[in-house]
Amino acid sequence: MDYFPQPVLGVETSCDETSVAVLYRREVLSNVVSSQAQLHKRWGGIVPEAAARKHTEAFLPVLEQALDEAGVTMDDIGGVGVTNRPGLIGALSVGVSAAKAVAFARGLPFVGVHHLEAHVLSPLLEEDVPFPHVCLLVSGGHTELFFVRSPGVYEYLGGTLDDAAGEAFDKSARALGLPYPGGPAIQKAAEGGDPERYPLPRGLEDPTMEFSFSGLKTAVLRLVQRLGDRLDVASAAASFQSVVASVLTDRALYACSVVGVSHLTVVGGVAANRALRERLLQQAEEERVSVTIPSLRLCTDNAAMIAHVASWRLASGERAGYDLETLAVDSLGRR
Ligand code: KG4
Ligand code: ZN
Repeated sequence: MDYFPQPVLGVETSCDETSVAVLYRREVLSNVVSSQAQLHKRWGGIVPEAAARKHTEAFLPVLEQALDEAGVTMDDIGGVGVTNRPGLIGALSVGVSAAKAVAFARGLPFVGVHHLEAHVLSPLLEEDVPFPHVCLLVSGGHTELFFVRSPGVYEYLGGTLDDAAGEAFDKSARALGLPYPGGPAIQKAAEGGDPERYPLPRGLEDPTMEFSFSGLKTAVLRLVQRLGDRLDVASAAASFQSVVASVLTDRALYACSVVGVSHLTVVGGVAANRALRERLLQQAEEERVSVTIPSLRLCTDNAAMIAHVASWRLASGERAGYDLETLAVDSLGRR
């Protein structure tokens, strides 16, 4: 991939993280993320209106901090990239309007970035990942497997038929009386729990490249209703986490065997999960598949991955107009 010869500003506001990053070629000069998790905690999930308002408040301070940490001023920035799809429309609009304003005021070229493509290519910020490879994208809104032929050429292999993996973490955590966001809460609660104590359903029969988590989520809820105070929350969390880790691992490695590649990347917020990482690395080694999982700050939503795609697209001559739109839904690699 060729990169833009000047520092690129990345902007991400598609969900509940306000993030601005400065990237110089492949080097992350800064990647400031202001999470709204505390705000949405009280509602147990993301409230779109509140998210949009919070982005408006956070944007300029986050921008200032990103420039400061990178040791640059706006004079050094050569281009701008912003997530414009898919995501919460109100939230996306804040970032897109802000990016347009910056580009207009400074006369800079800018591009709209697909949030999922940014996740898919994020491992390249840290490593020379071989192409083609398979990417497992697991986040709060997505659980998808892609055949990544080359940068920009993606084929959708399979995905969730109902809830996303992160969503299953969030909803099951809620059922277990654990706080939002559910992923880190379940991971913590599962420490010391017995992952085999409560047998839980895997959703679909293997082998498959599809996922279904709604049955698992319901099973956790039933467990809570049936056992009440007698429920061992640590073991319920561990049992849930173990099923998710096993399902994700088996299906990602199955996808590798179907398309015949021996490299897998795992991206998105759920890739932060320790049980998943351990299981994947172990099983992949047995199946002679090499795995890249980016560091935590690149797994969860961040603007460095947006600036990364922007820098490459700007270098290839792509330019957006001031009428760049936002899209709530936009799939990647589907025919
Ligand atoms: O990629 P991300 O930051 O935002 C989206 O684009 O959705 O992913 C957020 C999701 C949430 O559902 C959160 O519960 C989950 O990632 N998550 C985790 C962990 N850390 C975050 N899930 C499992 N284990 C974790 N350690
Ligand atoms: Zn994301």
